[in-house]
Amino acid sequence: MRNTAPIGILDSGVGGLSVLRAIQEQLPDETLLYCADSYYAPYGELEDSFIAARTLGIGRWLAEQHVKAIVIACNTATAHTLLMLRERLKMPIIGVEPGIKPAALRSRTRVAGVLATASTLKSTRFNALLTQYNRDCRFICQIGHGLVEAIEVGDISSPVIIRYLSTCIRPILDSDADTLVLGCTHYSFLLDVLRYITSERLHIIDTHKAIASQLVQQLTKQQLLVNADISTIHGSMMLSSALLRLVSTGDASQLTGIARKLVGIHVNAEHVKIASEPL
Ligand code: DGL
Repeated sequence: MRNTAPIGILDSGVGGLSVLRAIQEQLPDETLLYCADSYYAPYGELEDSFIAARTLGIGRWLAEQHVKAIVIACNTATAHTLLMLRERLKMPIIGVEPGIKPAALRSRTRVAGVLATASTLKSTRFNALLTQYNRDCRFICQIGHGLVEAIEVGDISSPVIIRYLSTCIRPILDSDADTLVLGCTHYSFLLDVLRYITSERLHIIDTHKAIASQLVQQLTKQQLLVNADISTIHGSMMLSSALLRLVSTGDASQLTGIARKLVGIHVNAEHVKIASEPL
């Protein structure tokens, strides 16, 4: 595996761009290849086996592009596919899951809310995680109905999304909760409206920075970080287009526009066709 190879990042759509941003901040000299499965987004209410087949197919495609590691920047895909992808591809694979542990460690009221997709909340992996920490901390789990669809078209602050979000988190606000876990990478883009709706009453736990730190640890341990000579050649400010490729299985121009709007990335996305992989 070459140290200069790109790091692959995947999500159902634009949610993983929040993770991509955190990775760029911690690893500014790495080349990134981001794949949005926009044709099939959102994943949150699809069949588990379909989500797994899509994620495995994208993982395979990223491996064919010679990435040196893959970040599944999607809680829903991680819940159904992390172990399978690790078995099939011989490279570091990092997943993302809701920050239940930090919430249980931090909450003073011992009540925390979790906002995630229907698929994540009903997954075996998530429920096993919950069982480890819900003995002395109560978790109020809510599905973020309508949120991913809105964020996919770049809506992160309209009255419509404020209404959806207010409805989803009402049971959490009506409880004693002092902490809110964001269990979907798309929701990171709602931090401002969340602070507004909750009047900053809830401490928000978002795992995108922790995922980037895990990636740094893995690449360091496996001696896969891009070497110092290459970093000097690129310089740290010339990154955005030279060191980043964005691809979408859906409308590439839409991904170009949303990436610009949400994370200020100026790169023209490409359309790609990626087959699902049988389980
Ligand atoms: N960003 C995703 C997650 O973290 C996927 C949401 C969806 O496609 O429904 O779960």
